[in-house]
Amino acid sequence: MNGRVAAANGRPEGRPSRQINVILRSQEPPVLSSAVPEKESTPAQKNVVQHSLYQEIQKELDKLVGLENIKDIVFEIYALLQITQMRQEAGLANGGQVYHMVFKGNPGTGKTTVARIIAKLFQRMGVLTKGHLIEVERADLVGEYIGHTAQKTRDLVKKALGGILFIDEAYSLARGGEKDFGKEAIDCLVKSMEDFKNQFVLILAGYSDEIDFFLQTNPGLPSRFPIQVEFPDYSVDQLIQISELMAKERDYILMPQAIMKLRQHLIQEKTESEHAFSNARYVRNTIEKTIRNQAVRLLNTYANANPGKLELMTLRTEDFKLDLKGTV
Ligand SMILES: Nc1ncnc2c1ncn2[C@@H]1O[C@H](COP(=O)(O)OP(=O)(O)OP(=O)(O)O)[C@@H](O)[C@H]1O
Ligand SMILES: [Mg+2]
Repeated sequence: MNGRVAAANGRPEGRPSRQINVILRSQEPPVLSSAVPEKESTPAQKNVVQHSLYQEIQKELDKLVGLENIKDIVFEIYALLQITQMRQEAGLANGGQVYHMVFKGNPGTGKTTVARIIAKLFQRMGVLTKGHLIEVERADLVGEYIGHTAQKTRDLVKKALGGILFIDEAYSLARGGEKDFGKEAIDCLVKSMEDFKNQFVLILAGYSDEIDFFLQTNPGLPSRFPIQVEFPDYSVDQLIQISELMAKERDYILMPQAIMKLRQHLIQEKTESEHAFSNARYVRNTIEKTIRNQAVRLLNTYANANPGKLELMTLRTEDFKLDLKGTV
């Protein structure tokens, strides 16, 4: 399972129960054996429950703009969990699946958001008991003296038991080379993955090339993270869609002129800041700053009266005070 899904119906959308039925009641003839009865009774009731569970997850995924490859991977994980359960009940080997993952992508591409949804999926499917997410970075894991790092790392793993331990900028653990305490943290994590097998899921996140470098620093690492997910940068169109969504969630609307201004700005910002451009996070900061600007404008304009409802909702061109280089 490596970032790609052979979707059963060959298309990214329309994942609900119909697709599952294709898997369960495959038209293909059974490969082997007289031991497999030709017709089995399907536990239909149970499937309905399981699918409504996925629909809940899908609702959250649907709120995210783009990320089609990631939505496919989440479905793939769901399908695997579901089938593994059925295989267990049928007395078949379950293969000891490992669900540790690597999320590769630039800042603000949705990594933390997706990790939270996956945590919920694992919890609902009974793989994780709690389904919480502990998000940490180097400073949370690495200590200042010998032995301190192992202690800090172990404590965090314990906190993450039953949920997901999400390590942002994981490559920074390998930054200082052999003598750095970051290495101790990595060794401790690798050991914890054995000691607490199936009790927590580890997600490493960071820029693509840096994560690849990180995985090479320890020969035990790559095989321990069988699920690798790429989070692409958003296009300008997607960033605009995200802006509109974020405004809508907060009960604001963007005037068409304001959208044009924002679009121009995003095109420029994306090209000029490249690596540092923080995608949807940038958009969120921009919208929040714009909302503050609108509040000031309204207070100044309506000194002796209340603005109407529509005016309270409207973000105008002049509310978008946009400078380059992230200084919104
Ligand atoms: N596809 C999307 N659709 C709508 N909103 C999104 C999408 N992706 C991210 N966001 C929003 O953008 C913000 C940043 O997302 P998130 O924190 O998940 O990114 P990240 O990749 O973890 O960033 P960082 O690397 O900086 O930690 C959040 O408010 C999130 O809800
Ligand atoms: Mg994050």
